[in-house]
Amino acid sequence: MTGTATPVDARNDPRLSGRAVKRVAFDEIAIAKRVTELGREISAAYPSGDLLVLGLLKGSFIFLSDLVRQITRPLQVDFLVASSYGDGTVSSGTVNLVYDPETQLEGKHILLVEDIIDSGRTLNRLMAILKDRAPRSLDICALLHKRIAEGLKHDARFVGFDAPNEFLVGYGLDHAENFRHLPYIASLK
Ligand code: IMP
Ligand code: MG
Repeated sequence: MTGTATPVDARNDPRLSGRAVKRVAFDEIAIAKRVTELGREISAAYPSGDLLVLGLLKGSFIFLSDLVRQITRPLQVDFLVASSYGDGTVSSGTVNLVYDPETQLEGKHILLVEDIIDSGRTLNRLMAILKDRAPRSLDICALLHKRIAEGLKHDARFVGFDAPNEFLVGYGLDHAENFRHLPYIASLK
């Protein structure tokens, strides 16, 4: 894992440009520990076959980069871009595929990596699209799961943490494109 061993003090973090953190939900050390465990779980779950790790941009970019370095088997990486939230904090429900992976999906184990499962709408839509590409298997790895989604057609096989039902930022998660670079995950006041 990159970064310092000592968690930064979120009460006095110049990255926040004056916004106050309500609380740090998961600090750097907790995240690094859990990502290492997830890497082990995923390595063990795919004893054979081609594995394609598909990161859902932009939110998964930091998680994905840490996660793949903890997976000790061959794999390929590609990305998906879907848009749904705009600048708001509430899901609009419309999911558009803005970038489609160029890597072939057919016959491969596909692991879709998502930052957070909130309403689950994004995943329901994306999983339907990916299923049509005839992968050997199709599963989800989510860093955070709010456990509030109703009608999730395909739940995550791998989950980093159950998340509080608050709007979280950091470690890839944004609010209006800000705060993705925080090394911890926090809710804002
Ligand atoms: P869903 O479709 O409602 O499950 O929303 C999933 C997407 O919304 C995630 O990939 C995030 O980009 C975004 N999102 C949901 N909850 C949060 C949050 O608490 N903080 C930041 N982004 C969020
Ligand atoms: Mg977002």
